[in-house]
Amino acid sequence: MRAIVIYKSRTGFTKKYAEWIGEELKCEIAVYSDMNRLTLSDFDLVIYGSRVHAGKIDSLTKIKGILGNEKCELIVFATGATPAAATEEIEKTKKSNFHDDTIPFFYMQSGLSYEKMAHLFYVNI
Ligand SMILES: Cc1cc2nc3c(=O)[nH]c(=O)nc-3n(C[C@H](O)[C@H](O)[C@H](O)COP(=O)(O)O)c2cc1C
Repeated sequence: MRAIVIYKSRTGFTKKYAEWIGEELKCEIAVYSDMNRLTLSDFDLVIYGSRVHAGKIDSLTKIKGILGNEKCELIVFATGATPAAATEEIEKTKKSNFHDDTIPFFYMQSGLSYEKMAHLFYVNI
């Protein structure tokens, strides 16, 4: 099975998890913004990772749309500052992002990088 990890990350948490998954599976990893350079039909499995932002998994709808015409399977992971032990909160996030259990979903605890966010705000001005 040929797999690829595609991730979107602003402050680096999701990138780190994506790299760990890529290392573990010995598979390719790519950033979401480079997706148009990929031939998705080359892959059997896409593992998509991004952040939870106000309860929503960033760009999940877009990735589902892009993969809608492809045969590859999709697995999703999302990083967030919610503690992994807060299972009810995580279940809520899952329910508001997925209608059913057809797409496997994994929540991965991260944190908040105030340092990197400050840089982003500065760049966005
Ligand atoms: C404006 C904002 C909203 C956020 N909303 C959530 C949230 O609803 N749930 C959560 O668990 N974490 C939330 N977080 C934390 C981020 O999801 C977390 O820092 C994430 O790992 C960032 O990923 P990145 O470093 O790959 O960009 C939020 C952070 C910010 C700045």
